[in-house]
Amino acid sequence: MGSQQSKKIFPETFSMKAKAFIPAVSLLCFWVLLGLGTSKFLQSENKGSELRGYISWEDLTVAKNVVRGSQEYLTPSKAGDASRVIVVDKNGRRDSVTIQGAVDMVPHNNSQRVKIYIPPGIYREKVIVPITKPYISFIGNQKYVGATVISWSDKASDRYANGTEVGTFRTATVRVDADFFCATAITFENTIVAVPGEEGQQAAALRITGDKAMFYRVSFVGSQDTLNDESGSHYFYKCHIEGTVDFIFGTGRSLYQNCDIRSTSKKFGSIAAHHRDHENDDTGFSFLNCNIGGTGKVVLGRAWGAYSRIIYSKCYIDDVITPAGWDDWKDTARQSKVQFGEYNCRGKGAERRGRVPWSKSLTRDEVKPFLGIKFIYGDKWLRLNTNKINHTMVHSFSS
Ligand SMILES: *[C@@H]1O[C@H](CO)[C@@H](O)[C@H](O)[C@H]1NC(C)=O
Ligand SMILES: *[C@@H]1O[C@H](CO)[C@@H](O)[C@H](O)[C@H]1NC(C)=O
Ligand SMILES: *[C@@H]1O[C@H](CO)[C@@H](O)[C@H](O)[C@H]1NC(C)=O
Repeated sequence: MGSQQSKKIFPETFSMKAKAFIPAVSLLCFWVLLGLGTSKFLQSENKGSELRGYISWEDLTVAKNVVRGSQEYLTPSKAGDASRVIVVDKNGRRDSVTIQGAVDMVPHNNSQRVKIYIPPGIYREKVIVPITKPYISFIGNQKYVGATVISWSDKASDRYANGTEVGTFRTATVRVDADFFCATAITFENTIVAVPGEEGQQAAALRITGDKAMFYRVSFVGSQDTLNDESGSHYFYKCHIEGTVDFIFGTGRSLYQNCDIRSTSKKFGSIAAHHRDHENDDTGFSFLNCNIGGTGKVVLGRAWGAYSRIIYSKCYIDDVITPAGWDDWKDTARQSKVQFGEYNCRGKGAERRGRVPWSKSLTRDEVKPFLGIKFIYGDKWLRLNTNKINHTMVHSFSS
């Protein structure tokens, strides 16, 4: 599995290498046909050569020879072979010295998964994954989660040389406009620490407008407005997200499952600020099985837009939440329209006795649509039920 993976190539360079595999493939097809029937055979035929409309665990791993930098692995620059794994190395021994440089190597209108392996280190750069480059993975080392950090420090009130304010949406250290983006074992960081009560302190670590993205064991570190979950359907699984005010915000439709949500607020703040302006919008933030703690006290969510939708289910909530729990963004008209719900949460912060009456304790039927990947249409674009991530495939980078 490991060495096959590193040899995958773009379709335009497919012919040469494909020939060698024909006998093996036909033998395999024979056995598959014999043993498992036609439908499985078609699946294995298509694998890797057709446009893949889904994300699987495989998209979040690189083979260990990629990580070790063995000769077996042919880099695009050195072999003239458009390999589908690009390795970043600050010392210039691999494909690109920067992450943006690696993204720039991916062709526009890309249609095949390209994995960018980013070894542990602090990468001080701003990165943009443009809309024309779908199917990109940022992969760090699973053995050293937290050790690959992409870090910058723009804040909303900063100004460009021409005098224009940066503004919240352009502060993000990493901006992803492309669909089918994946990341694992990466920390997205904005080092600005918001000064409470001061204007222009918004400083995002990530902004995502691309649709169908998955983040697995990824950290988002910032203060005010850390994670700009701007638009599209996104799956955050076992992630860490920290900040002070509105540190998960945007118009996205996202499931945050088994995530660690940390308030670093000294006094007041808010975990989520979901933006939803119309009753029929299918967007919302669903927090499922999350662990919520830190300092505070903060509210669970704020109504950014009249129909803001934020649901917490089966979460452990520490004593960091104000009794009222929710905020109407100083607009009482929103109270009757928002969907702010809690279901089966536990911990001191889950105590609902002091909650604003316009938030809801949901019934099992009411909460059902928010309890799994179907909420983000994940049944259509996530295939995670088989083959858990193979941790033995990813090793430390040692040269
Ligand atoms: C994981 O990858 C290793 C190395 O490539 C392989 O030996 C092992 O069989 C794989 N395990 C699973 C469960 O796929
Ligand atoms: C990408 O696709 C668009 C739309 O099909 C086309 O106009 C554009 O020329 C393509 N760009 C490249 C670099 O192939
Ligand atoms: C000022 O510079 C920024 C960054 O280069 C640019 O995005 C913006 O459009 C510029 N504004 C004006 C008014 O030229």
